[in-house]
Parts: sequence; structure tokens; C-alpha cells
Amino acid sequence: MATLINEGKAKQLFTTDDPNIIQVHYLNQATALNGKRKEPVADKGVVNNQIDSLIFNYLNQQGIATHFIKQLSPSDQLVKKMKMVRLEVVVRNYASGSFQRKFDTEYLLKFDEPVQEFYYKSDRLDDPFINDSQIHALQIATPEQLSTMRDQVFKINQLLNQLFAKAGITLVDFKVEFGFDPDGNLILGDEISPDSCRLVDSQTHASLDKDVFRKHTGNVMDGYRTVLSRLEATVK
Ligand code: C5P
Repeated sequence: MATLINEGKAKQLFTTDDPNIIQVHYLNQATALNGKRKEPVADKGVVNNQIDSLIFNYLNQQGIATHFIKQLSPSDQLVKKMKMVRLEVVVRNYASGSFQRKFDTEYLLKFDEPVQEFYYKSDRLDDPFINDSQIHALQIATPEQLSTMRDQVFKINQLLNQLFAKAGITLVDFKVEFGFDPDGNLILGDEISPDSCRLVDSQTHASLDKDVFRKHTGNVMDGYRTVLSRLEATVK
């Protein structure tokens, strides 16, 4: 019998017969402001599970170690059980969101080199920015672990840039999370979907991600469905 282990903002985690494997169920709901705003969104779970499964399959094939095992059904997938590092790892190729606000830059200013940032995962504290020495002081990760995550996230950024470019989509920025698998390896976990990436149409710059929900600028599922159908056409 599968038991609910944890319910996050967009997913539920269940036990399986194997103690090292977790079943992830994607929910039909969207949140913003760190969960303070929550609304049902029909089909979002199914579309996000398919986008995430396609992306993680691609990353696994490209030699990135991830928690992803396989897609089980339209809304569910199997992943390795992970002990997550309490960090959000953000990469930015263009200015948007909190970077644009903080430094008052032009929207979609292109960076010569991708920008990488860490945030401390805490809903209570609203995920504050954290630097390397703060991470070490709080014993969240060692210098070696930080450099592994940095190396991996830049490789992931290159691979995702290539994948999305083929689909006519520009990857503005994204967030990933790492954790330790049952063998103690530090690998990519969590989710990569339009909930955790900024994606714009390469030609029109129309927003295809959760910013549409955050800013109330239209039907958020239109962009998510565009991302899925274009990625499916790309990997065929
Ligand atoms: O808000 P900000 O510009 O810092 O977000 C950078 C990237 O990280 C965006 O793609 C956003 O969707 C993602 N993010 C996330 N979860 C958070 C904060 C940011 O997925 N809690």
C-alpha cells in the first residue's frame, strides 16, 4: 500500500514497495508567493509530469546523474529516494524576475556568462539569497559539494539551452535542487518544468511559464501546453 510521505506545493510523494524508490504524483494546482496564493489549474499535473519526464530522460541520456527513473502514468513518475540539500540553485541567461528588480536592469538583458545563485530553502524565511560562506557557516554543504552543484548546473544549463532552442524557446532562467541518493551520490533531484523555469518564445518573447500565473496575464496552461508539444516534436 502506497503511503503519502509528503505533500509539496505542486506534488505529492508516496512510498513504493522499494524503500529506495518514491512515486511522485503531480497535482493540478498552481502556487505563487511561496505557497501563499494557491489555485486549482486543470491538467497542470499531467502536462508538468510529461514535461519534467521528457527533460529528465533527456538529461539522463546526456550523462547527467538524476533521481529520475521513469514516467509511470500521465500524472505520476518514479524517482530515487533522496535526502535533499536545503538549497535552490538558480541559473540565469537573461535578466528577469528578482535579478531585474534587484539591479533595475532592462528585461531580458543578455549575460555574457550565465549567472548562478544559491537560495536557502525555507518557506518561513521566503527562501533568502545565501552566499558560499553563509552556506559553510550553516553547514548546509561543503565547498566540494558546492563546486559539484555548480559544475553540474552549468552543464545542465548548456544542455537545456540546446534542447529549448531546438523548440524555438529561450531559457531565461531556472531553478533546480540537488540531493543525496540512497548510495550517497550528490545528484539532481526535484523538478524542471515551466513552474521552475522562465521560458519565452524565441521570436515573440511571449511568456510560456508560471509568470503568466504570477502576473495574472492570461491562461497559464496555454504556455505549458505549447512547451510540451514543442519539446515532444523536438525529441521525436
Ligand atoms: O524569482 P527569481 O527571478 O529569483 O527566480 C529565478 C528562477 O527560479 C525562475 O525561473 C523561477 O521560476 C525559479 N524559482 C523557483 N522556485 C522558487 C524561486 C524561484 O522555481 N522558490
